[in-house]
Amino acid sequence: MLNKDCERIVISEEQIAEAAERIGKQITKDYEGKEIAFISILNGAYPFTADVMRKVDVDCTIDFMQVSTYGDSTSSSGTLKIKRDISGDITGKHVIILEDILDTGYTLHNLTNYLNSKKPASLKICTFIDKPARRTEDVHADYYGFKFEEDLFLVGYGLDYAQKYRNLPYVAVLKPEVYA
Ligand code: IMP
Ligand code: MG
Repeated sequence: MLNKDCERIVISEEQIAEAAERIGKQITKDYEGKEIAFISILNGAYPFTADVMRKVDVDCTIDFMQVSTYGDSTSSSGTLKIKRDISGDITGKHVIILEDILDTGYTLHNLTNYLNSKKPASLKICTFIDKPARRTEDVHADYYGFKFEEDLFLVGYGLDYAQKYRNLPYVAVLKPEVYA
């Protein structure tokens, strides 16, 4: 059933499952014979991380980072703050960042600079949603679940508005009055 604050569903549970499977298979193919060091960006990427990882069939490890670029507004601003750093060493490793949304690119641009300074063997980006409409940084996703050309604010499946709605099993558009 649709959450009372949502206008419509834009990605169903079935579509999410299909995307995780497709990405997992592609990563398995691309990294055959290698070991992957996944870095998941909390909080938003946690359901996507769990779903994609379980469809990956090569050796892998998982670490987490938490960064903040904005408070309770709907767009990135200010400087990237690392609230939680990775706990392992990624030097010489094949790193894949798992992120919820690539929007302006500000977060991932800064994150890739930071992680590249640790000299991984390779570094790729896997994002659940790619929203190129507001891109200001030169960042592209190596893997993505869904691309939205339209500039919509989405919630559900890890994506929040003011920390809520992460629990929804689908992705939906909020009713405009919710953020008014
Ligand atoms: P960027 O730094 O502008 O690329 O923003 C990336 C971050 O903004 C993502 O990790 C999300 O947490 C957040 N974000 C961007 N668009 C949305 C949205 O539509 N819904 C929820 N969070 C969003
Ligand atoms: Mg985020």
